[in-house]
Parts: sequence; C-alpha cells; structure tokens
Amino acid sequence: MTRWRGRLAFAIGAAALGACVAAWPQGEPAPDAANGKRVYLEVGCFACHGRSGQGGAYNYPAPPLAQTRLPQEAFKTIVRAGPNEMPAYPEPVLSDRELADIYAFVRSLPGPRPARDIPLLNVTAPKEAPAGSRHE
Ligand code: HEC
Repeated sequence: MTRWRGRLAFAIGAAALGACVAAWPQGEPAPDAANGKRVYLEVGCFACHGRSGQGGAYNYPAPPLAQTRLPQEAFKTIVRAGPNEMPAYPEPVLSDRELADIYAFVRSLPGPRPARDIPLLNVTAPKEAPAGSRHE
C-alpha cells in the first residue's frame, strides 16, 4: 500500500514536471522581465504606453499594457504591425527574444489600484478644525 502510494506520487510528480518542461520550448531561456523593462524604456514604448504601462495619449490614445490580457502571439503581431498611430517594430529593431521579455515585463506590472487602496483618496475631512487653527 505505502509502496503503491509512493509510486503514484512519483508518477504524478513526473507528469507535472513533464507538463512544465513541455510547456516551455526547449533551449529557449525563460523570459526576463527585468530585461523587458530595459528594452521597453530603450525602444520608447514608455513614451506612449507609460512607464507603468498605464497607457497614455502622446499622439493618439495608447491603451494600457499592464496586465495585458492579449495572448503573447497577438501581442507580438500588434507590435510587429504597429496599428494606426503606433510605429511598427520589425525584427531588426526588436528581436523575438526582446519582445518576449517586454511581454513578461508588462504582464508583471500591477496595473491600476482600486481607489480604496489609495490613502489620499480616502481622507475624510475632519468635522471640526482643531482648536487654535481658525483664522478669524
Ligand atoms: C508613438 C506612440 C507609441 C509607441 C512608441 C508604442 N505604441 Fe503601442 N500603441 C500605440 C497606440 C496609439 C496604440 C493603439 C492603436 C490602435 O488604434 O489600435 C497602441 C497599441 C498597442 C498594443 C495593443 C494593445 C491593446 O490592448 O489593444 C500593444 C500590445 C502595444 N501597443 C505594444 C507596444 C510596445 C511593446 C511598444 C514598444 C516596443 C509600443 N507599443 C510602442 C502607440 C504607441
């Protein structure tokens, strides 16, 4: 019984490990969000999409990229094509590797915080000014 359980645990572990290995293309290093940040700043994405990927309106409304829900392939296609007012970034300017790193970076950005988590927006005015602070 114990031996059977051990084997089962081993099989599940091996299957999980196999799934991880299979999900990641062989020989390719894992995306590097820190390098993605560097490239994002270097090639100018930040000018339109903001340093925190919050989006902007430099020359035309640029959508937020933080926490993008676009699949990586769609993200890549858009960046390569440069829709409307966005410049296109072809392979010589931005490699697939760098693009994967940028994708990892923008996915790692926290995105907007709810208003209730921003202390300044939750200050309630004091009911009465403290004594001595009134200007008559
Ligand atoms: C000159 C401004 C500008 C720069 C620089 C720029 N973009 Fe954009 N980007 C835009 C605009 C404007 C759009 C919206 C285009 C449209 O009308 O669909 C956009 C759209 C996108 C989208 C689609 C987002 C969505 O949710 O629809 C992605 C992804 C994107 N940009 C990534 C990037 C990346 C990565 C870089 C840097 C390599 C970059 N952009 C540089 C202006 C810019």
